[in-house]
Order: sequence, then C-alpha cells, then structure tokens
Amino acid sequence: MSVALRFAGVGKLYDTPTGTVRALEGITVDVKQGEFLSVLGPSGCGKSTLLALATGLDLPSEGRVEVAGRRVDRPVTDVGIVFQTDVLLDWRTVLGNVMLQVEMRELDAARYGRRARDLLRAVGLAGFEDKRPYELSGGMRQRASICRALVHDPPLLLMDEPFGALDAITREQMVMELHRVWNETRKSVMFVTHDIGEAIFLADRVLVMTPRPGRIAEIVDVDLPRPRKVEMRESHAFLALVAHVRNLFVQAGILQGDRHTA
Ligand SMILES: Nc1ncnc2c1ncn2[C@@H]1O[C@H](COP(=O)(O)OP(=O)(O)O)[C@@H](O)[C@H]1O
Ligand SMILES: [Mg+2]
Repeated sequence: MSVALRFAGVGKLYDTPTGTVRALEGITVDVKQGEFLSVLGPSGCGKSTLLALATGLDLPSEGRVEVAGRRVDRPVTDVGIVFQTDVLLDWRTVLGNVMLQVEMRELDAARYGRRARDLLRAVGLAGFEDKRPYELSGGMRQRASICRALVHDPPLLLMDEPFGALDAITREQMVMELHRVWNETRKSVMFVTHDIGEAIFLADRVLVMTPRPGRIAEIVDVDLPRPRKVEMRESHAFLALVAHVRNLFVQAGILQGDRHTA
C-alpha cells in the first residue's frame, strides 16, 4: 500500500531568545493511503509542529518528511488543512470561502462550484451558501472550513484540533460528521487532538505522544469495526483502548493512575 505521508527520524529544534527548544525527537511514522491516523498528546508535545512539518510551512531539523513519496522542502499544495480556529474570511460568503481554494488554484469554477455546493449540502449547510461566516455558529463555521479543505479533492487531509474551540455537544456531532465524510471519501488523514475518546473513535491508528521533547510513546492499532457507531464508545473494546492509552500517559507521569487517587 502506498504511503500518503511519511516521517522518518524527524526531529525539530527551535531557537528562542533563551536557548534552543527541542520540540520533536525521533518521529518515525507513515500515514498509509486511505488511513486515518490520530495524533494524541497533551498541550506542548509537538502536535502542531508535526502538522506544520507535513504542510511544509516549517521544515524538520533532523530526518525527512515525505508527502506522496516526495520530500517536503516547501509548502505542499496538494493537501487540505483545517485549523483549530477557522480562518474563514468574513467579507466572503460561505460558498465564497470554500471557493477560495478553487480560485487560488485556478481550477474550473463551474465544476468545482458544483462540488463546493455538494460538500456544503453533505455537511448540512445547504441554504447557507450565501450567508457570511459571522452569521454561522461555531460548529457550522468548522463544517464550512472542512468543505474548504476538501473542495480541491486533496488526497491528504491535515487537521489540527479542528473541534477544540467547540462546546462538548457540538464537538460530538462534528466527530460523527467527520467520520461520515471520511467514510465516504476515504482520504488519508492526520488528525491532531488532545481528546482520547475522539482520537480512538475516528482512527485506524493512534500515535500517542509525550512531551519535552515530543516523542512517540506508542502507535496504537484501533481494531474496531467500521463504520463506527456512537454506541461503540460504551463497548468493552473501546473502553479497553481508552484505558490502554490513559495508562501510557500515567506511565509518562502526565496523568495520575487510580492508585494515586483517594
Ligand atoms: N515557533 C516556535 N518557536 C519556539 N518554540 C516553539 C515554536 N513552536 C512551537 N514551539 C515549542 O515546541 C513545543 C511543541 O509545541 P506545539 O507543536 O505547538 O505543541 P502542541 O501542538 O502539541 O501543543 C512547545 O514546547 C512549544 O513551546
Ligand atoms: Mg497545537
């Protein structure tokens, strides 16, 4: 199976006024074509840095990053990116925001316009095409952002805590929404989150990271049947995976184990 995204022995150092900070060390992992990889870890463990290296917006200090077999040494265009805070332009309509990708790439406006409308309909935004982003709720804005990341049909989707700014209920809806979209499109995805349940629910594999410096604690296989159902979150298999991942954080001194609690 071909590899959509490869990190081979990747390290990242940042020079700061107070010295050099090591953000990442020894990261080796592949996102296979059509695979959903969640990247899970606490704040500061290098998740956003890893994503920036995948986009080519930043370059590694050590090792090698490849997208579709090509070394990343400049910003990659054939990817879709969704950030934590949506970067929608308030003076453009919802459809206009999605079409930004199409205009920048000078793609066929009629063809991709239809695709943009189809995507908006698929995420429940039919009828909102001509609204401005400030007329939408947070969840709707992130739905529009996902459409914008997908409109040019990139093989690889990179998401950095896309639901981090949403309330818990909207967030759960969005996870189901993303799962449905992924199930239909089977894009290769690197999905960054600090939510254990979310990471497991969506993923084929979860890359568990620990901080200072950001390292891989373990890459956990998620052998749960697809499509995933909400009820699955209460299944024994799911809860066993949650417990396993929690225990990795306990071992790393990030979470407290049961024996420490009163
Ligand atoms: N541009 C930068 N300059 C200096 N340090 C940075 C820079 N970007 C990230 N870092 C540091 O690298 C580490 C990882 O950061 P980040 O990738 O943002 O983690 P996460 O997304 O997991 O919260 C942190 O210690 C952070 O302070
Ligand atoms: Mg981050």
